[in-house]
Amino acid sequence: MIQKSDRKRADLIVGIQWGDEGKGKIVDLLAQNYDIVVRYQGGHNAGHTIVVEGKTYALHLIPSGVLNPKAVNVIGNGVVISPEALIKEMKQFENLEGRLLISDSAHMILDHHILLDQAKEKLRGKKAIGTTGRGIGPAYSDKIARSGFKIGMLRDLDKLEADLREYLQQNEPIFKSLDINLDLDSLRGKLEEYARELNSYIINTTNYLWKALDDNKRVLLEGAQGTMLDIDHGTYPYVTSSSTISAGACIGTGLNPKDIGEVTGIVKAYATRVGNGPFPTEDFGDDGEKLREQGHEFGTTTGRPRRCGWFDAVAVKSASRLNGCDGLSIMKLDVLDGFEKIKVCVAYEVNGEEIDYIPSNLEDAKPIYREFDGWEKTEGARDFDQLPENAQNYLREIEKIVGTKISIVSTSPDRDDTIRV
Ligand code: GDP
Ligand code: IMO
Ligand code: MG
Repeated sequence: MIQKSDRKRADLIVGIQWGDEGKGKIVDLLAQNYDIVVRYQGGHNAGHTIVVEGKTYALHLIPSGVLNPKAVNVIGNGVVISPEALIKEMKQFENLEGRLLISDSAHMILDHHILLDQAKEKLRGKKAIGTTGRGIGPAYSDKIARSGFKIGMLRDLDKLEADLREYLQQNEPIFKSLDINLDLDSLRGKLEEYARELNSYIINTTNYLWKALDDNKRVLLEGAQGTMLDIDHGTYPYVTSSSTISAGACIGTGLNPKDIGEVTGIVKAYATRVGNGPFPTEDFGDDGEKLREQGHEFGTTTGRPRRCGWFDAVAVKSASRLNGCDGLSIMKLDVLDGFEKIKVCVAYEVNGEEIDYIPSNLEDAKPIYREFDGWEKTEGARDFDQLPENAQNYLREIEKIVGTKISIVSTSPDRDDTIRV
């Protein structure tokens, strides 16, 4: 019998801003030290760009450990999977047999979810969330409403087809009212393709992960999106439809809180957001434009320009607490190269009052900034001492304000341009 204290714990990577912090780069880098990498929520709304030896890979559903030939990559039960998107993504890689496992309990995103997502966004008009249009919200809605379809159902196509046709028929009035026309003739053919391509990867991943930890395997949990997009703790309703925070990893994998080890929060040295919703430090002037250009801030999934602004220490501090971060990974420090002055939001002003927490009416919060002197160049630095003094100062001050130690600093998209602090 293994004593609990002897067992390995799963470490965790989580975005602590509005997504696109650079999680993919860090997961790829750390994956070299892990046997198993697990995605626990979200779907192909995620877009993780990884650069290895000059070659760029875009991942949406497959965990970012896939570029490490030794790691097994697991798509956990908390993920919503578009079989079509997954099959397409899998084609980028030669042989995933034995290196990719899919939870039989993960719910599927099917055509009607995507059409519903897009139609509902249209209906919202000016109040649109700015979703990725990938069917995420409707698929999670169906899961919670107990009318979803687990990917494990691909093992019994006759039953899946019958249940799905029944569901689609029951919901026909809704589809009609939204001008959604479903192609039911191709339904069976599509399901057969999904089953053919995916069934050999589908297992009970919860049992697999329990056994892995019992066998002392090293497991890394990979969050998608970011804390401020969390369904409960983010800027609702301008959020995604899953629990993006570290606590979501338990639900999305079947591990328990005691199975979780080190938590690393991934954060940019500035801030970005795609889609609508409050973003107190957004810069609408030349600085915002410069951040977008220097940081190539255009979405990996939708190509949309990202909204850019300054580091929000109030939001990051709260996110660090929410996730239980043991350390922070500061990404894209090089994007701040060449700025004369760099701002950090250290408090908000709301209705004439100064506060140092996230208010429920974040849209009314005005940032109170502290200004730092800029520096010339950090790009490509691989050692903390190599960084200009002003950059070191910036990092040390962020660490102090947020109250969490910095464990990694990233200075380019490349795997090797990374400082371990
Ligand atoms: P994710 O969704 O959190 O995985 O992040 P994305 O991949 O959507 O966005 C991060 C982008 O920044 C990617 O294009 C990365 O290649 C790039 N990136 C990551 N780290 C750095 C860095 O330190 N410097 C620069 N300039 N780019 C980086
Ligand atoms: P990664 O994993 C940044 C945003 C969308 C929109 C909101 C809801 O690459 O960090 P959804 O399609 O999820 O219903 O859209 O969430 N969003 C992301 N923003 N990075 C992401 O993922 C995102 N995934 C969703 O832009 O505002
Ligand atoms: Mg991304």
